Formats: sequence, C-alpha cells, structure tokens
Amino acid sequence: MKNIYSNILKFNSKNLIKIIKILKKNGIICLPTETVYGLGGNAYSYIAIKKIFEVKKRFKKNPLIIHYYNLSHAKKDVILDQDFYKVYKKFSPGPITYIVKKKNNSRIRPIACANLKTVGIRFPKDKIIRKLLKKLNFPLAMPSANKSSGVSPVKPSDVFEEFSNKIKVLDGGISKIGIESTVLNLVGNICILRPGIITPKQIEKVLKISIKISPKQTTIKSPGSLKKHYSPGIPIYMNKKKCPDKYAFITFGKKYPVTRNSFNLSKKSNLSEAAKNLYKFFRNIKKKGYKKIYVTKIPNEGVGIAINDRLKRASK
Ligand code: TXA
Ligand code: MG
Repeated sequence: MKNIYSNILKFNSKNLIKIIKILKKNGIICLPTETVYGLGGNAYSYIAIKKIFEVKKRFKKNPLIIHYYNLSHAKKDVILDQDFYKVYKKFSPGPITYIVKKKNNSRIRPIACANLKTVGIRFPKDKIIRKLLKKLNFPLAMPSANKSSGVSPVKPSDVFEEFSNKIKVLDGGISKIGIESTVLNLVGNICILRPGIITPKQIEKVLKISIKISPKQTTIKSPGSLKKHYSPGIPIYMNKKKCPDKYAFITFGKKYPVTRNSFNLSKKSNLSEAAKNLYKFFRNIKKKGYKKIYVTKIPNEGVGIAINDRLKRASK
C-alpha cells in the first residue's frame, strides 16, 4: 500500500534540490516557518501565484505576503523608510510582516498583491525556510497553507488534512510559534492590521509612537482581517465560565479542573504557550467529534491580544 504521507519530504540536501526545481518550474509547495506552515510559490511568476489562489480557494482581493531571505533581496522590489529600518533591525528575521510601498519596477506579480500599491514583506526566522530562500533568486509568495477561512497548519500532517496528497510538504516539525505573524502597516497611519506574538507594546518601544490595532477596515487594507477566518468549522463561544460535558472547553490557567472535555492552553498562564496550542487544539477538538467549543476568558494583553483576535474571528 502506498504511504499516504509520501508527499511529506524530510529536510535533506536531496529534497532541497528537488524543491528548488519545483519552485523554478512555477510549482507550489508547503513549507515550514516559525509561525505556521505556508503554501509557497515564486512571487515573480504569474503561473505560480495563480496556482496558490486556486488551491487555497482564496478571494483574489486578499494579498499574499512576500517572503525574503534578506534586505538586499527585498530592496529590489519595495521602498523602505526609516521607520521600517528601526523595526526591521529589532524584529527581523522573525514573526512580523511589514506593509510597505511597492516600487514601480518591482518584479512582484501584481496579482500577488491584489493589485495594491503596497506589499506585505516578511523575513522568516525558521532555519529551513531561510536555507531555501538563500538559494533562490526570487522571493516566495506564501499564505498560510490552509483552505481559505480555515485554521492555519502547524505541522505536516495538518497540511495533509488541508490538501491531501495534492501538494508536497517539506517537514520542518512543529511550528515554534503556532499563530500567524504580526502584520504592521507602515504606509500612512502606522498601525497593526493583524496582532501576533510581537505585541503593540514592543513596537511602540522601538518607534516611540502609540500603536493602535486597526479598527474595522473601511478600505481594503487587510482584507483577510475582515471576514470569518481561522475557523475550525464548528461554533466557538468566548468568555465562558463553564461548559456542558458534551462540548469542548478550552481553558487557560491552573484554576480549571482537568476533565475529559477540557483542553488547557497553558496551565502556567503563559500566553505564548497558549498561542502555540490554540490551532493544535482546534484541530484535535474537531477530530474528536465535538460539535461546539466554549472558551474561557483569555487576558487581553500582550500575546493575549492575538489569541483573542483569532478566537473572535473564528467565532463569527
Ligand atoms: O505567519 C504568517 O504570516 C504566515 C506564514 C506562512 O508566513 N502567512 C500568512 O499569510 O499568514 P496569509 O496570507 O494567511 O495572511 C496574510 C495577511 C492577510 O490578512 C492579508 O490581507 C495581509 O496579510 N496582507 C498581505 N499583504 C497586504 C497588503 N499589501 N496590505 C494589507 N494587508 C496585507
Ligand atoms: Mg491565512
């Protein structure tokens, strides 16, 4: 019998060469990053980008993040200012995406950016993706490797659940952070479009201005942040103190008893640990057959802001 996971490739030099070949031929592939797994393709290739949108069933007006190895690669495509350099120096490579202005002669395919004049750029930290990016002479357009509006994958078998054997996955183990990057808009009014593990406070310290999380967007700034998103496909109810036995109860902190239906994000009340467990729990709970999820109150500070953001959108 054929191994159902035969499309999951171990990380070694032979497979790295194989993946580079696929990408050079406008193919797409699922790749590990420190936040979540992504579905990557050549950002300069119309064919590759089109495939990404098709496979994800993604709304064409939702732009992709472009992943670079370093600044000298990125400078060819985007205009960078002093604020950018300040945050870049502090947080990159790492789990943050910067929205910056696109150059007129940028080679990034307009469809990758939903025809906007801006681009989301990220410099991931994960060692495997960096090894790959270093060997490519193009950046990777890479949304999270899930079907649109679903839960982002944090390990190869999650990716398999999304796309079965349709697309190869490079095995980088479990994503260290477990939720998507912070999206920081640096064009016009500086603000956070998607909260993440890098918090508003950390960014305020560097830029020395107050950083708001963007209220509901009226223009299409970050379309992905408008609709229902990150949903495990069953109803989620937030800020619950108790939960009926028949539903899954996602808790936080040591005061909650361990019961068959409880899933504790962090007994130590550590918000980073909670973020890392969130999508893993969503998938486990769905697999166990629960029909509803109740979630206890999560402190809305630091990384908790990102957790509550995902819970809110998943519960819409
Ligand atoms: O951690 C991450 O960011 C992962 C990994 C794979 O890098 N990627 C990811 O991509 O989460 P995606 O496509 O699932 O989410 C990208 C978000 C969307 O909400 C999109 O609207 C926003 O970034 N975005 C991208 N380019 C933008 C732009 N030019 N202006 C405003 N928002 C943008
Ligand atoms: Mg996504």
